[in-house]
Formats: sequence, C-alpha cells, structure tokens
Amino acid sequence: MRVMLVGSGGREHALAWALRRSPTVTELVWAPGNAGAEGLCETAGVKADDLAGLVKAAKGMRADLVVVGPEAPLADGVAQALEEAGIPCFGPSREAARLEWSKVFTKEFCVRHAIPTAPYQVFSDPDEAESYLRRGGQGFPTVLKADGLAAGKGVLICKDLGEALEGTARILRRREFGGAGDRMIVERFVSGEEASLMVFTDGERVAPMPPARDHKRIYDGDQGANTGGMGAYCPAGNMSAVQIEEAIEAIVRPSLKGMAEEGHPYRGVLYAGLMLTADGPSLLEFNCRFGDPETQVVVPLLEGDLAEICLACAGGRLDPSTVRWKSGAAVTVVLASGGYPGPYATGMPITGVEEAAAREGVIVFHAGTRREEGFLRTAGGRVLDVTAVGESLAQARERAYASAGHIHFEGMHYRRDIAAGAPSEQSVIQ
Ligand code: GLY
Repeated sequence: MRVMLVGSGGREHALAWALRRSPTVTELVWAPGNAGAEGLCETAGVKADDLAGLVKAAKGMRADLVVVGPEAPLADGVAQALEEAGIPCFGPSREAARLEWSKVFTKEFCVRHAIPTAPYQVFSDPDEAESYLRRGGQGFPTVLKADGLAAGKGVLICKDLGEALEGTARILRRREFGGAGDRMIVERFVSGEEASLMVFTDGERVAPMPPARDHKRIYDGDQGANTGGMGAYCPAGNMSAVQIEEAIEAIVRPSLKGMAEEGHPYRGVLYAGLMLTADGPSLLEFNCRFGDPETQVVVPLLEGDLAEICLACAGGRLDPSTVRWKSGAAVTVVLASGGYPGPYATGMPITGVEEAAAREGVIVFHAGTRREEGFLRTAGGRVLDVTAVGESLAQARERAYASAGHIHFEGMHYRRDIAAGAPSEQSVIQ
C-alpha cells in the first residue's frame, strides 16, 4: 500500500516510524516531514495547511491511504478533499472534527446525547459573562474555554472571581485567541483524577489504545508555563481496565452514535480528555487526532499493522481484534530549545543523536529539526523526543534518560521527572 503522512512534528515522526514497519506499506511519503525522515521515507515539500497541494501530492503518488497527524487540516476539511479525489483518509471529516474545533458544539452535543460533562454557560458578550461570573457563575474555581482551536492554550482554570474576570478579558475583550474566542464557555470545575484515552474507530467499532499521560508544564514537579508537552509515558496506570470500559460505554460509544445520527460519522482517532470522578468519567474535551507527545509512547507498543488499522478505520471496517499491544512500557523525554516555551533561537547544531539512538530500546523521534549542509540543527521549540521502551516504566525511564545524556545542543533543556512516581502499570490492554 502507498501511504502519505501529513504533519511535521514528533507525533508524525512516530507515525512514520510505525507506518514504515507495517508489512503492507510499500511506499511512504511524509508531507512536509522533518529531518527524522532521513533513511526512513521520502518527503514532499507540501505544508500541512496546503489542502490543494496535499491532494495533488497524494494523487501524484497514487496514495491508497493518507494519514493526518495535526488537527488543523482536518478542521479545514482535508478528509473530504481527499475522499472527493477517491483517496481514503485516516482522520475525520471537517464536520466530525468539530468535536475538537468547537468546544461549544461539543458541550451542546454532550447535552443532546446525555454524555457526562460539567455544567456550563456560553457567552459572546463580555459584559454578560462578567455579570454572570459576579453573580457566582458556576462557582469557583471555574474553567473558561475559548470556543475554537487555540493551540492548546484556550483553557483557563481560574481560582477566583478576579482571575475569571481577567480570563474573560483575555478571551472576549482583548481577543488573545483571535476568532477562537468569539464565544467563551464558563464551566464548573470538576475535581478528580485527570486521564486521557485514545481510541481507533471506524465510526462504529472501537479499539482503545493503552492510556498514556503527558507532562504539560515546562519544569519538574509540574511547575511553570504550559508547553506543547515535555514528555509522556505509557501505560498510565491511573485508569483501570474497568474505568477504560466505563469511559468507552459512557462517553466514546454514545459520541460515535450521536455523530452518526447527526449525519457526521466519526472515523480516525478520538482522543477523550477525561476527569475520573467519584460518579464516573466526565468529558473535559475531545481531540480529533493522536496526542502529541502521547503518540510517541503509544505506537512503539503497537503490535498490529498501523497502516492496515488506519485503512480499515477509513473504510468503515475496523476489526478491533487486529489492534494488539505489547506488554511493557514506553517513556519519551522532550529535549527543548533554550527559552522554550517563550522565544527561542533555532539553527543550533545537534550532536549525539546516533549514539543516543543506538542504545537498547531507544528511538529518537525528531520534532523540530532540519538538516543543513550535512549538519542536524534545531528548528523548533521542541526539538527531539527521546523515547525508550522497556519491560517496565522504570526500565523505559532509565533507558530514555541515559540516552538523552548523549545529546547536546546549545540551550538544550528537559524535565528530569518524566514518569517519575507514575502509578503502577495495571491498565495495559492485552
Ligand atoms: N498532549 C495533548 C494533546 O495532544 O492535545
């Protein structure tokens, strides 16, 4: 099968790595890709937001399947554009991807289909939102959410009225999130254990992935600014097999049924951000694609053929028994540029990647790199995802950190506590 992969980060390098290992894949082209493609697959110089260019490139290679990494092209309708050209796409249609690109849609959808989620109110007028908050709103702390895509930054947890008024000003008055902040949700804060669950789905059938957990803050101990993710581990032992099943029955299946009933069957990866409460799981948010950096720790544990699974999802014929998982665990440590998540320089020469990747159980996924005159250089805030698999989380962690120690670039920094103190590995799906 000829496969085209869309995207350019560490998530996509992990997908490229897994697709390349699929016995059914005869040709793999990654658009636009990054320096991790070297020795792995061809790249196409088409950006992920160039829909016409992607369709042309997919037609040009006579692709049997296109796998889409990031949410933006899905929200722009790349799946329909490809399907109109007769090319199956792994990833939902624009309408189905609305579960990620409109948080207001998702809340209203949850109400329509009795899917557990926190109570909320929607506002577009800042005066009305402020008056509602002053009257007590949904209580404090409270959660404010910009409606649209905001690169993971549009959710504000506000501990009191003062913070909530400032959050409202950021979203609805100063328009810090642009059009994503045309509408804002005021949501009741739900306490419990946060967990995330990704599933493969063909719109009806569901195959869960083992739960993975990311680390969003820049510094050890979950301190400092939010980032795109500084590391992840899998399995995240904070979700038991029973809780996974509960989340599938209470949230995932009703959502798939609801989307189908509303005329927008959902195919691809559905990523559910959950709060596990005393009363069962509550939906925080959906993503319409693989998590980043969760993918980097999930796909190394996949035993099935990723390309076949993706094609079956796209074609509405997923057989969940083909989605099998290895025992063991995986840890990824993100090596970031100096200054990230604030402003940072790029173009720093990187050394030690080959030595790091030669260690047992280690795969170094590239996130923000480029090759220039034969030298590997930094090209983004998150530069490399040093991933290791092992028989246990402890072994995977030890391997990932030992490997990261070989790599150097000016300003490089990373967290030292990825997967430290992680709960037990009870939730591996066999
Ligand atoms: N790691 C969270 C996400 O991919 O949205």
